[in-house]
Amino acid sequence: MSSNAHVPVLLGPVLEGLDVKQDGLYVDGTFGRGGHSSAILKQLHADGRLIAIDRDPQAIASAPATLTEDPRFELIRCEIAELEKCIGEKGLAGRVDGLLLDLGVSSPQLDEAERGFSFLRDGPLDMRMDPDTGVSAAEWLQSVEERELRRVIRKFGDERHAMRIARAIVSTREQTPIRTTRQLAEVVAVVLPAQRQKKHPATKTFQAIRIFINDELAQLEKALAQSIGLLARGGRLCVISFHSLEDRIVKRFIRDASREAEQYRGMPDVPEAFRPTLRPIGKAIVATAEEIAANVRARSAHLRIAERV
Ligand SMILES: C[S@@+](CC[C@H](N)C(=O)[O-])C[C@H]1O[C@@H](n2cnc3c(N)ncnc32)[C@H](O)[C@@H]1O
Repeated sequence: MSSNAHVPVLLGPVLEGLDVKQDGLYVDGTFGRGGHSSAILKQLHADGRLIAIDRDPQAIASAPATLTEDPRFELIRCEIAELEKCIGEKGLAGRVDGLLLDLGVSSPQLDEAERGFSFLRDGPLDMRMDPDTGVSAAEWLQSVEERELRRVIRKFGDERHAMRIARAIVSTREQTPIRTTRQLAEVVAVVLPAQRQKKHPATKTFQAIRIFINDELAQLEKALAQSIGLLARGGRLCVISFHSLEDRIVKRFIRDASREAEQYRGMPDVPEAFRPTLRPIGKAIVATAEEIAANVRARSAHLRIAERV
């Protein structure tokens, strides 16, 4: 597969979950390589509209002319924590018929060694989705305190060997800065040599550092909170997550928004401002065995759907 390819995950269930109306207004908060966006656009008529967002300048630059020249389509470089601003400033708050968030990294981000996301490819240890913001993973690893490093690896990687890994990183960097993905993968592999799992020993450490560097969980929480004000009544929220930390946030958010505010729970008359704002549509959807066989990224995907009430 070319390094520019990204196969959209759970495409059929996403289109069904969004319940695409031909003249509706849709927002794809994670454009990537536009797999979901292209499929949504195909279902829209001339008066439908799709606004896509990505924080990665390469994702924006890679959008094909078939999309960027389509008058129904607009692509904005923005982060999902700023959804309200990006969409709201167009006067579209409360008018969105469907919002999709397909979280995490795209295949091209992982495949391109210069992005520094993957332990399988040697490159500069960057890991930023938006390389113009924040610090690279290499810069952060050079100065972070061992305790904080351990916390990040344990919390965001669910890595039980976080203490040994953090210690090894700190003692390595005292000799030589860890500047490349291979260096980091090797440091982790040396302290976890006896693992008999299918995954590379550095999988969890890379995931943890990536989540931290891109502030992924806070981005998700902010986007979810802002989605309520953007969606029209009956509008759909579809979120695909790829690990349990994200899925837990989505699940809890939908559960809490589907209840009355705590102080009114169980009361007969609940003022409008305290009523549920979402209704869950079914349970989490996972990929079929066929989809997973064709696209390994689908293996950990969980799609949750809710409707604005
Ligand atoms: C899994 S890919 C999306 C793939 C896309 N659905 C497709 O079919 O091609 C995730 C994309 O979302 C972007 N992204 C992740 N977190 C983001 C955030 N907080 N704000 C904006 N874009 C984000 C990434 O840069 C990446 O391009």
